[in-house]
Amino acid sequence: MIKAIRGTRDILPPETGLWNFVESAVRDVFRAYNFQEIRTPIFESTELFARGVGEETDIVSKEMYTWEDRGRAESDKGQSLTLRPEATAGIVRAYIEHKLWDRGLNKLYLIGPMFRRERPQKGRYRQFYQIDAEVIGPPSSGSDSAARDAEVIEMLATLLDRLGITGWNLQLNSVGCPNDRDQFNAALRKALEPVVAKMCVDCQRRAVTNPLRVFDCKVPEDEPIIEKLPRISQFLDEPCRKHFEEVQEILKSVGVPFILNDRLVRGLDYYTRTAFEFTHGALGAQNAILGGGRYDGLSESLGGPPAPGIGFAIGEDRLVMSLQEAAESVMKKPDVYVAPLGAGMNRDAARLARELRRHDLIVDLGDENFRLKKSFEAATRAGAKYILIVGENEVKADAFALKNLATGAQVSVPRGELAQRIQETL
Ligand code: HAM
Repeated sequence: MIKAIRGTRDILPPETGLWNFVESAVRDVFRAYNFQEIRTPIFESTELFARGVGEETDIVSKEMYTWEDRGRAESDKGQSLTLRPEATAGIVRAYIEHKLWDRGLNKLYLIGPMFRRERPQKGRYRQFYQIDAEVIGPPSSGSDSAARDAEVIEMLATLLDRLGITGWNLQLNSVGCPNDRDQFNAALRKALEPVVAKMCVDCQRRAVTNPLRVFDCKVPEDEPIIEKLPRISQFLDEPCRKHFEEVQEILKSVGVPFILNDRLVRGLDYYTRTAFEFTHGALGAQNAILGGGRYDGLSESLGGPPAPGIGFAIGEDRLVMSLQEAAESVMKKPDVYVAPLGAGMNRDAARLARELRRHDLIVDLGDENFRLKKSFEAATRAGAKYILIVGENEVKADAFALKNLATGAQVSVPRGELAQRIQETL
């Protein structure tokens, strides 16, 4: 038997109903904040992620699905391509490529699959789905304002509330800017010098190439050492400190609770200033439901104009997991099962089903070859609320037997009143 590849999975009904529910709530909420949808390719040049996300990150150094293209044309021969591990780099590439600032497009969102070769476990997959949103624009558009950071975070709180997800925590930090980073890196290197030999090989490498990444270490033995390292919060310059303070003040004023966490550095190199994560207790070890932050230098590092930005990505798989309890009410069952009874009845049944569906009812349709008992079984298995019998007598009378499958009550309803009758009693 051929099976789905480890770390990938089929998302089956009725769970897909939950995914659609989430995506439709997301689209509604994003619309209210004036975000518009963008769809970018699932694979891009490897260089985009190496430069955007950072060579030294776990994502780029260990987790990407990368291959050499074997196209015939000289132009694509040997080009290194990668399945996107995240959406931000691709969106910023598109922003630069299409000069989106000229079209006034500065609030974009994307829903789609991402790929990382991580060790699969509950809530962690190799193909997973992100709901990503970005605010990006020239500095003159105010895209660097603390008001944007707070707006994006408040939007997330609104979305989670709307989905009925309670018990989330917002962790907030500022990772500063290149001005602070040099001093911080120097302090980190100094603090690491006497202890680094006792750390894991990854940390020994990070200490030299990109000391901030030491905070990504998940080796328990390194934890006491990391706990004592200097924190970026002690090195923020005045503009960064003020920016961060303003984000916090707006969040307080709109009533979004947060926890300051100065160890939160996020696993991607493009971050500057505000960084955040929403966690949820019910998710187990992989408890980050979403993460995001500001990336004021990313556009320039990809060859674009200055374009400060802030965004986030929700792990849709994890969001759906935290929603599972609400599932029953969301996954819609058929309102009615239309059961043709006897030869020649498929045609009339098809007409009736078509009429009812035009009234926005969810209709399942049987087959004239089914005996009545089999139709009842099929209707019950589908979870339909009603069964509607379409036999020769009913067609002649133009009135149909409608039976409530839960109560067993049965009435004869004239064709013209059927849709209303089903809707009324739903
Ligand atoms: P990230 O923290 O790498 O950020 O991923 C965001 C979210 O995607 C995580 O919080 C998690 O919910 C989900 N996620 C990540 N890896 C997996 C996985 N293997 N399986 C299931 N879910 C996963 C980013 O990707 C940034 N691009 C976010 C961003 C946008 N920052 C600014 N703009």
